[in-house]
Amino acid sequence: MKLNLDFTGRHVLVTGAASGIGRVTANAFAAAGAESLWLVDLDEAGLAAAAAEIGPRAQTFAADVSQVASHQALAARVAEAGTPLDALFLNAGIFYPTPLADAPEAGYDKLFAVNVKGLFFGLQALLPHVRDGASVVLCSSVAAQYVLPGYSVYSATKAAVNAYARQWAHELAPRRIRVNSLSPGPIETPIFAKLGLPQEQLDGFMGSLGQMVLLGRVGRSEEVAAAVLFLCSDLASYITGIDLPVDGGYLAF
Ligand SMILES: NC(=O)c1ccc[n+]([C@@H]2O[C@H](COP(=O)([O-])OP(=O)(O)OC[C@H]3O[C@@H](n4cnc5c(N)ncnc54)[C@H](OP(=O)(O)O)[C@@H]3O)[C@@H](O)[C@H]2O)c1
Repeated sequence: MKLNLDFTGRHVLVTGAASGIGRVTANAFAAAGAESLWLVDLDEAGLAAAAAEIGPRAQTFAADVSQVASHQALAARVAEAGTPLDALFLNAGIFYPTPLADAPEAGYDKLFAVNVKGLFFGLQALLPHVRDGASVVLCSSVAAQYVLPGYSVYSATKAAVNAYARQWAHELAPRRIRVNSLSPGPIETPIFAKLGLPQEQLDGFMGSLGQMVLLGRVGRSEEVAAAVLFLCSDLASYITGIDLPVDGGYLAF
């Protein structure tokens, strides 16, 4: 049995590819031999930098995943390229607190539009351009199952992502397309700086998250990327409809 993570000749798409987990995962797919990579994100400068790290195999597509029209335009570009996708990492997401007492409606709607609606209409638009037998990985979070006080709406969006993975695994099984979600624990990425907390408070927040992990530290994007590549590889050919925590033991704490 050949045990390796070889993506030679494979065509891959990653959303949220300009930053953090998505960017590192796109690089990991490239290092594992992917023939072409679609990098999708809102952040055009970040996308250009991510593509430069990979070279000519990377194609960028600036898009807001909460907009159905963006997905239709992306699907048209993928169709034009004429190379159906073998692996999709639908990872773009946003994170901020929504206290029950006073969170505004707009913040609620945006979390669901990006983290939940974006996945549904993204996969719907791309499906005709996904190869039978492909693998889809949805980025969830341990917050789907674990209480993060003040983050109930984010947590609810990620619980929805876990439900999608199970449901879509059923719907796409006739095409042998595997669908799984992956739940990172606290991972050091720019997502936390986007909370706008003063540095000292941010350091305290990260420190407290690290202490809630069995391994006693926050994780690295490379550690999530390794799990994404595993789920997208032939090594995971009998795995579909699961949620894989990549959390240093956060859920076991
Ligand atoms: N880091 C963690 O501890 C952690 C833990 C559990 C789950 N996750 C999940 O992991 C995923 C990636 O997070 P990350 O930590 O790598 O965050 P990140 O560094 O902020 O990267 C997320 C990327 O997605 C982009 N994005 C945001 N909204 C978008 C939209 N509407 N359309 C297209 N792109 C959009 C962001 O662009 P902007 O910079 O312009 O917003 C950013 O480039 C998210 O789904 C997150 O919920 C992260």
